[in-house]
Amino acid sequence: MRRIGVLTSGGDAPGMNAAIRAVVRVAYVHGIQVYGVKGGYNGLINGDMNVLTRRDVSGISQHGGTILHTARCLEFKTEQGRKKAVQNMKAAGIEGLIAIGGDGTFAGAHELCKLGIPTIGVPGTIDNDLAYTDFCIGFDTAINTVVSSISKIRDTMDSHDRIGVIEVMGRNCGDIALFSGVACGAEAVIIPEIEWDINQIADRLRNRYEFGVQTGIIVVAEGAGKAETIASDLEKMTGLDIRATVLGHVQRGGDPTAQDATLAARLAGRAVELLAKNKGNRVVGILNNSIKDFDIEEALAQKKRIHTKLYKLAYDLAF
Ligand code: F6P
Repeated sequence: MRRIGVLTSGGDAPGMNAAIRAVVRVAYVHGIQVYGVKGGYNGLINGDMNVLTRRDVSGISQHGGTILHTARCLEFKTEQGRKKAVQNMKAAGIEGLIAIGGDGTFAGAHELCKLGIPTIGVPGTIDNDLAYTDFCIGFDTAINTVVSSISKIRDTMDSHDRIGVIEVMGRNCGDIALFSGVACGAEAVIIPEIEWDINQIADRLRNRYEFGVQTGIIVVAEGAGKAETIASDLEKMTGLDIRATVLGHVQRGGDPTAQDATLAARLAGRAVELLAKNKGNRVVGILNNSIKDFDIEEALAQKKRIHTKLYKLAYDLAF
């Protein structure tokens, strides 16, 4: 394989640039030229792909976002769109592809494999909702952003003897809420994977108030509920002063942590090595700190395990 493409797709994630840089640098070692595809799968369909040199990726690994830009591409869901993409890749002499993104990206990668283009998926999404890997690129940075944001919110909640309800991203996955909730010592963590009871949370807040503790933090995953609604309901149930914050897209930006930048380089490096051996239809991931690769379909079929022990720990740690 002498020429491959790389793209980023779906919601961007801090560390994607580190992955792009690693693709280009490791490919060079294998004598492989890299084309950067702009705007996710749209770039394949529109033929928006240009050579990425080692110099082009110099100094990008510590910056959030993606120099290739990203998008969700509906046209690629059509057979016509996919065929156009393959036509453009063949015209450019691109023999393989590395697709950095989440489950939707991987589904597209699998379609490309079926059309004869060896493709490797690299997990890049702050949601961390891919079951086959312990972590996705961007997740560690996102939870650090949430924890530092909650620290600021806690300052003002404490000053006003208020409870803060913080809504975080994750789509239908509660990992951002759970991991950041444990890290910041939240009084309650609400995630979509586990049933929760607002009456139990109200009782806990009342009991704390009777102990003289009027302030605290509740973290809710967006897939489990709305901070505004939960804050309003709890205020009515307890008479306490409660405020809601929706953290939003700040969770998707920022310079990647060392953990994410390193994970990105390790995963991207493995992806290039697989293509260099003409291996496609694989995704790369990390399990117990070892880099592994899996068949795309098998990876996508896996069900995400629920962190029940961590969820119970979050409950036990709270007062
Ligand atoms: O999938 C990543 C993610 O940040 C989700 O956590 C969030 O719900 C969604 O993307 C937001 O999408 P958009 O950036 O298109 O508003």
